[in-house]
Amino acid sequence: MTNVAILGFGVVGSGVAEVLTQNKGIIEKKLGKEVNIKYILDLREFPGSPFEDLVVHDFNIILNDPEVSVVAEMMGGSHPAYDFSKACLEAGKSVVTSNKEVVANFGAELLEIAKAHGVAYLFEASVGGGIPIIRPMCNDLASNNITEINGILNGTTNYILTKMTKEGAAFADVLKDAQDKGYAERNPAADVEGIDAARKIVILAALAFGKAISPDSIHVEGITEISTTDVELAEDLGYSIKLIGHAEKIEEKILPMVSPRLIPHSNPLSGINDVFNGILLGADMVGQVMFYGPGAGKLPTASAVCADIVDAIAHCEGGIKLPEFSVADASDLADFEKYTCRRFFVFEKCAECDLTRERVEKCFGTIEGFVCKGNRVGVITAEMSENEASAIASKLNGGKAYRLF
Ligand code: HSE
Repeated sequence: MTNVAILGFGVVGSGVAEVLTQNKGIIEKKLGKEVNIKYILDLREFPGSPFEDLVVHDFNIILNDPEVSVVAEMMGGSHPAYDFSKACLEAGKSVVTSNKEVVANFGAELLEIAKAHGVAYLFEASVGGGIPIIRPMCNDLASNNITEINGILNGTTNYILTKMTKEGAAFADVLKDAQDKGYAERNPAADVEGIDAARKIVILAALAFGKAISPDSIHVEGITEISTTDVELAEDLGYSIKLIGHAEKIEEKILPMVSPRLIPHSNPLSGINDVFNGILLGADMVGQVMFYGPGAGKLPTASAVCADIVDAIAHCEGGIKLPEFSVADASDLADFEKYTCRRFFVFEKCAECDLTRERVEKCFGTIEGFVCKGNRVGVITAEMSENEASAIASKLNGGKAYRLF
């Protein structure tokens, strides 16, 4: 029998207890042994819950119990989640987590500690909720050089954008709905401002390129500035607007970023709606592969955590290969200004000017798309750098620039 402790009994933590109980039979059949939840750490009591007797409030009870060999951390936030994870690994306990904040900021260090102590640190649930992505990147694509990552990595914002696009719903109402469904972060600003997606893209970039870049050092834009008119103009030109985590190598340096992008309707990422996430990986041998599934929510995320619990037990009994990456320094990060792509400009037509495609082409050079709705104009340009795009946007009346896929 393996004893497991759960740290944090919120949406995901309670989901993990539910999965381990409801699917006890199938999990134990795979492992050939019983998995027992011995403790649940939380500040609160849970009267009436079938797990109420397992609740403890003192982390040291778990840390000092030699019978607990796997700890599932679902507390959220950096502290004390990082400190508890580190202490458990140093005490010879494997740690599995859905906590992207800890993995993005301290993953390289915690992996090193896990290796030094012969235990596992696993984080399948930290990116893409229930989608298997970390394990396939480490195992199934092991013979590939990954060249590019593009992903819808945040369920809450995808849910909001879908409702804005399909139902013309108001931002605040849909955000409340996403919170009620347990998709959003404790502070939903992390979702809508792109911070959650930034943590996830740096985790994927670390797995792909071997270097852990701080999420605070990358370019991040959220969805708060996207208007329904922008969405409509883009749709008329054959594109959906999605919040995309992107990472690629430019001149051997890594460039991760998060921003809203126009995705052509012909690209599979464009059809990913609601709370679903999708990750499109480009790799030198396999070509393009796409991973798709529920990106947030109690049971999907718990499903990924429980897969890690199974693997952590297997690791200690024979060894699975853990992911490997080291902390990046400034010289590993590509210059953001070197990034070029096609752009979508949205601006306001002034009352006196009759804006025709010909007149717009005189300003932008050759353009690839032009649409006008009321007093708003949308223009798709050829490739340009970040500097060129911001210079044009600042000259346009209330102008905004989006990147194209
Ligand atoms: N708030 C996150 C999301 C939860 O909406 O994607 C899953 O990481």
